[in-house]
Amino acid sequence: MIGDKKVLYSGMQATGTLTLGNYLGALKNWVELSDDDAYERFYGVMDLHSLTLRQNPAEFRKNARNLYALYVAAGLDPEKNCIYFQSHVSAHAELGWILDCFTYMGELNRMTQFKDKAAKHADNINAGLYTYPVLMAADILLYQTDVVPVGIDQRQHLEICRDIALRFNNIYGDVFTIPEAYIGKAGAKIMSLQEPERKMSKSDENANATIYLLDDVDTVLRKFKRAVTDSESEVRYDAQTKPGISNLIDIYGAVTGKTREETEREFAGKGYGDFKLAVGEAVAARLRPLQKRYQELVADKSYIDSCIKENDGKAQYFAGKTLRKVQKKVGLTERIR
Ligand code: TYM
Repeated sequence: MIGDKKVLYSGMQATGTLTLGNYLGALKNWVELSDDDAYERFYGVMDLHSLTLRQNPAEFRKNARNLYALYVAAGLDPEKNCIYFQSHVSAHAELGWILDCFTYMGELNRMTQFKDKAAKHADNINAGLYTYPVLMAADILLYQTDVVPVGIDQRQHLEICRDIALRFNNIYGDVFTIPEAYIGKAGAKIMSLQEPERKMSKSDENANATIYLLDDVDTVLRKFKRAVTDSESEVRYDAQTKPGISNLIDIYGAVTGKTREETEREFAGKGYGDFKLAVGEAVAARLRPLQKRYQELVADKSYIDSCIKENDGKAQYFAGKTLRKVQKKVGLTERIR
């Protein structure tokens, strides 16, 4: 809590361009909560996390700034939502270190995302990749966060964050608020359009598998047209036997607000071609205003600069408060002023 408000905290890695999965699983929910004054809201551009993979510095810097602009373009007003760069608030790395000392290797060994990424990048299994969930716990705990809106794939990271916080509180008293994941009803796990058993991901080698938020209309329609389905012709939800169509039903539902049953009724008697076109059009219509706003924002450097400056300071203030409390609790020597 901050004052009488609950704290909402989330963020995304500043690598590559966002996907429809990032949008429907997280960003869209952030925007829906962004006018709710019951919450104090913080959204990080998680650039320190991105360093776990090798980055091209110039491209990385550009991507991180573009991610900031995308948050705003999607509808997060930076005057009401504290959007900031993780690397501009040194408390993240400092608390990350302290929490490393309260996390067991056995716990980190169980992290499925670490195992997946280690398998994918066998030539660069660095210590940062391993302790990534601890830095993420520090991100969340620094702001005394109550609620963390994320997609399903982040659930395990939220659980370890809670475990670390509870362990710390058991030793030192109520230092951290124990956060909860907020997982949206629709869109919490968007699958690849080409291999619907796998999550839609930024780094998929098959360009047709992923919708990027900056894809133009033709590209969006073409990717949906080529989406893998099954040999039947009925638009019916069954994640086991019809993963492709079920994923499209979920995407359509997340964008239009329609339930699975409503979508099945709407497309009863119609073929997959009609359905894919409708999903593509609904997605493209949703992305259009976001893309337009994004182009305006990237052209207006001074506006984004002023938001960065303002919000970095705010984040530093709140994060610094928690960090000082933690330093004192664990017995680090106080500074002489
Ligand atoms: P990241 O950058 O991989 O993803 C950002 C958000 O998008 C969601 N997401 C999806 N949701 C539905 N379907 C998909 N296919 C899909 N792909 C991604 C993710 O669940 C996430 O909510 N570790 C985090 C970033 C992070 C963070 C934090 C998040 C760092 N510190 C503190 C919350 C709080 C990550 O890599 O997300």
